[in-house]
Amino acid sequence: MEYPFQITSLEQYKEQYQKSVDEPESFWGDIAENFYWRKKWDKVLEWNFKEPKVEWFKGGKLNITENCIDRHLETMGEKPAIIWEPNNPDERTRVVTYTRLHKRVCQFAQVLLNNGVKKGDRVCIYMGMVPELAYAVLGCARIGAIHSVIFGGFSAQSIADRLEDAKAEFIVTCDGAYRGGKDIPLKSIIDDALIGNKTVKKVIVYTRTRTPVSMIKGRDVWWEDEMDYALSQIEKNNVVTMPATEMDAEDPLFILYTSGSTGKPKGVVHTCGGYMVWTTYTFVNVFQYKPGDVHFCTADIGWITGHSYIVYGPLAAGGTSVMFEGVPTWPDAGRFWDIVDKYKVNVLYTATTAIRSLMSYGLDPLQGKDMSSLKVLGTVGEPINEEAWHWYDQHIGKKKCPIVDTWWQTETGGILISNLAGITPAKPSWATLPMPGVQPVLVDERGKEVTEPDEHGLLKGNLCIKAPWPGIIRTTYGDHERCRTNYFATYENLYFTGDGALKDKDGNFRITGRVDDVLNVSGHRIGTAEIENAINMHASVVESAVVGFPHSIKGQGVYAFVITEKKHPEDDLAKKDILETVSRIIGPIAKPDKIQFVNGLPKTRSGKIMRRILRKIAEGETENLGDTSTLLDPSIVDEIKQNKV
Ligand code: WT7
Repeated sequence: MEYPFQITSLEQYKEQYQKSVDEPESFWGDIAENFYWRKKWDKVLEWNFKEPKVEWFKGGKLNITENCIDRHLETMGEKPAIIWEPNNPDERTRVVTYTRLHKRVCQFAQVLLNNGVKKGDRVCIYMGMVPELAYAVLGCARIGAIHSVIFGGFSAQSIADRLEDAKAEFIVTCDGAYRGGKDIPLKSIIDDALIGNKTVKKVIVYTRTRTPVSMIKGRDVWWEDEMDYALSQIEKNNVVTMPATEMDAEDPLFILYTSGSTGKPKGVVHTCGGYMVWTTYTFVNVFQYKPGDVHFCTADIGWITGHSYIVYGPLAAGGTSVMFEGVPTWPDAGRFWDIVDKYKVNVLYTATTAIRSLMSYGLDPLQGKDMSSLKVLGTVGEPINEEAWHWYDQHIGKKKCPIVDTWWQTETGGILISNLAGITPAKPSWATLPMPGVQPVLVDERGKEVTEPDEHGLLKGNLCIKAPWPGIIRTTYGDHERCRTNYFATYENLYFTGDGALKDKDGNFRITGRVDDVLNVSGHRIGTAEIENAINMHASVVESAVVGFPHSIKGQGVYAFVITEKKHPEDDLAKKDILETVSRIIGPIAKPDKIQFVNGLPKTRSGKIMRRILRKIAEGETENLGDTSTLLDPSIVDEIKQNKV
């Protein structure tokens, strides 16, 4: 497959960028011509950020799976679409060609139809990283069902909340999942999530770990049985036919839940046409993907990175995508490098936190691994510190691979700010330049554009985007007003990212981190309010306040200040109980790293917790805590400072 929209020089980037700003409709119309549409769009773009309303390729008809699979069959049918590396390196690799992917996706789409799933229905997917997860995602897309993938690290309670919010009627899961040395009993967690649930009609269970599971008559069915039957329906004389459902460009493709500054996760909605164009365009340009390259994105499909850069982007580009079931440090910290060696990986895209974690194991795990196939490296999830950047550059890329630092969000669908590998310049710890179609602007607290550089010649402000790109969030599921207030109401006529950033005189951006009450722990987004809600569920907790603190591997750690009923709780036990509660309510990823029992929290006279002060204490600051005169009881600050953990 050729990519006529691949940018090949800095000059061309500049020229394309300018065109995307001056004539967005003709710019994106031309790019969209490179996809398969059943019917061409009537209008490339209509929008206002007031409601907000964003419509790309309106009136266009398509099915994203025909773009990700069918159109490649004739010329690339025997080419690997997905290379699957199991958790256990001794288990057999699975190579899924485009022809095989087509067959499996069609089969599973038929399974969904047989189980009563219709266009627009919500299907929750809670599986480990097995190829069947990709079949499930694409099977939904093929019949126009809206998938909502939930990461395997979320608890039953979190799943229950998401099922309810999405009013999901169907679930696809596994008996269990392998992750490093652990087996996670997925089906049993689903069973817990379904206690009291009245909307879910069917649960389809794929066998992975052979963990005993309970199967409820009439509700739970086995993947394998369903797939066999579906094949007998759609395969005749070795030919598989299973038509894809025609979708409008603006029909929802999926929901993905993510945390915000309120206690309740939001269902971010992406639609078919714009998301397809955006993920493919950014995939081909940022990573400078060339036909035949092996692309290894180490994310889990439970997060947006996996959706966009394991599944949709690479497949729409006719690429080869490596999917890894396990974790970077099992059986040892050389696992990524083994995979690079084994499959001759050309593009490696991983999280900043993974780099820092692997760095801490030293260079031994790299011994004897041939990584000469690598051409491009990428990072995502949080700002990368210069030390980690140089380690990645020197020891993994051997100073010959450009590193792309990709800034984006669940809400943006794909990468917004990043250098293009080898085409636009890299700058360690800077995400650098916006993609064509992306117009970032830095504003002050009142929404005024920042124009005065600071003493280092840098502009500093809250990062907003001025106009829509094809992959922008369309709504938050079931509550459009929430989408407006969260992203489009802070500053008039701007999409607000929640991040702070710096801009240098050359137009490069450096992301400094969240400016709202959202933490980024190991590249996972968790709202402080969400963790506080979970801690407060514990029977003996009166009140709590959660802030982030710098953590050498996770980027940010979770620091919880907790008031309990008893004045001196039995520290250790009480702490363990709180951790267990957070695990149950949200999932192990949200567990606080530090818990400090306190007798009070610094509050203003109107009762607002002054997190600024708590944040400083958690960061280890003792002197400059700022103005504490407005506090109801300033003495509480000294007490908290003294007992810092
Ligand atoms: C938040 C979005 C997008 C995939 C992974 C996370 C932070 C993301 C970078 C980067 C600095 C980054 C931001 C953003 N972030 N990439 N390259 N440099 N910060 O998706 O869970 O939606 O989180 O991750 O703070 O707002 P997410």
